[in-house]
Amino acid sequence: MSGSCPGACVDQGPRIADIDFAPLRMRVPTDRYHAPAFAAQERARLWMRVWQVAARADDLPEPGDWLEYRLFDQSFVLVRGRDGVIRGFVNACRHRGNALCEGRGHAARFTCPYHNWSYGLDGRLLAVARPDFDGPVEEFVGAREGLGLIEVPVACLAGFVFLNPDPGAVPLASHLGEIADLLAPYRLEEMVPVGLHVREAIACNWKVVMDAFQEGYHIQGVHPELVAAMDESQERYRFFGDHSVATAPFGAANLDGFGAEEQACAIRGLPAVFPGVAEVLPRFEDALCAYREADGQLRFPEGVTGRLLLQRATRETLSAKGLDVSGLTDTQMSDNHFYLVFPNLFMTIRAGEATVILATPHPEGDPGRCHWLVQNLAWLPAEARAARREPLRDIPESGHVPYFLALEQDWEMMQRQQRGLRNHALGEMALTRQEVRLAWFHSVLDGWLAGNDEAGRTR
Ligand code: FES
Ligand SMILES: [Fe+2]
Repeated sequence: MSGSCPGACVDQGPRIADIDFAPLRMRVPTDRYHAPAFAAQERARLWMRVWQVAARADDLPEPGDWLEYRLFDQSFVLVRGRDGVIRGFVNACRHRGNALCEGRGHAARFTCPYHNWSYGLDGRLLAVARPDFDGPVEEFVGAREGLGLIEVPVACLAGFVFLNPDPGAVPLASHLGEIADLLAPYRLEEMVPVGLHVREAIACNWKVVMDAFQEGYHIQGVHPELVAAMDESQERYRFFGDHSVATAPFGAANLDGFGAEEQACAIRGLPAVFPGVAEVLPRFEDALCAYREADGQLRFPEGVTGRLLLQRATRETLSAKGLDVSGLTDTQMSDNHFYLVFPNLFMTIRAGEATVILATPHPEGDPGRCHWLVQNLAWLPAEARAARREPLRDIPESGHVPYFLALEQDWEMMQRQQRGLRNHALGEMALTRQEVRLAWFHSVLDGWLAGNDEAGRTR
């Protein structure tokens, strides 16, 4: 099954003992979390040049739907055109620069509220008020050709709308490389937010968030309730240019030495930490019946494990709902895969569902704060998506929505870490080998800040 699955390469990915740590930065300077000079360099060399997620495509379902994307004090408007294509423009009127849009909305055209210049959804200048003020109308019509909204590169992948503030950006496909192939079989573009869908400010640098979700080392410290469910010792890694993937089998993988009944029992307990498993359990129980002997005992023959039956039950359950899982491995049926799409898109993905964590620098430029978007995505049949789609809750700056237990624990710890990091006497962090993905991430970041972007990187 996994021969034609791009994700199979993660199954064979190296474990920690197989990784060459020599080129990696295991000591990370802490000024990158709080120093204004570092933040300024990061803004210019990374954020103003890198592809970044600005929305989900289903945030703009209809032609004329638009939303504002803010990056520091820069503002862009994303809009779906009459041709269905989502485009991005600098959010400034070409007359005297007024901000065209704020927030989100729907429009047949953009009309600047200052002097009523109007623009099409494709950015072309359509009309100006009182063109006679500017001399002969014919001359003005000719001159306005170059006065459309300033377009910025925008591209969609996996249901995300990526934007790059740099007009000379390399194509999104060049930035993503192989990671795009790995994401394709999940059909993320057919997933919608269900359950948690929140954006709020957090008192920590955006990289504190990215760091926290790239290691399982803190599970024993922060999430003791997850220790039994996750097995970090078997984690495997793959690095693809700027991006990375890791996977750790859930705890039942360690139950091979246990009896069939114990394995089944552990899997029945999974929904407590992986709620999506609940819908798979009926088929799992059906599968178990085949191995229950006349004396009532559950016995697995050689080659059969509870984990294997769970993977089969998951594949059957999702297929029955209409999701094509033929491009996904058995491991992707049962285990979370942790994706980091550089710089700031983190996703935990299992067949049929994903949790998105997206951290962006605070619009006011304070390196000690950021915004994060947390979004649970689930695959649903097309006809069910609109009704089940959870709207975004945009929390006011000082507010907070309590999350589920593990995320609430992370939320508190990240802000606490920032309070420690800002001590000037602390020059650097000392990473352990389990934090190899952080080391990779910070090495990649260093490359961007040194100017080694996709066009001419030396890493
Ligand atoms: S600034 Fe937009 S019409 Fe004048
Ligand atoms: Fe955590």
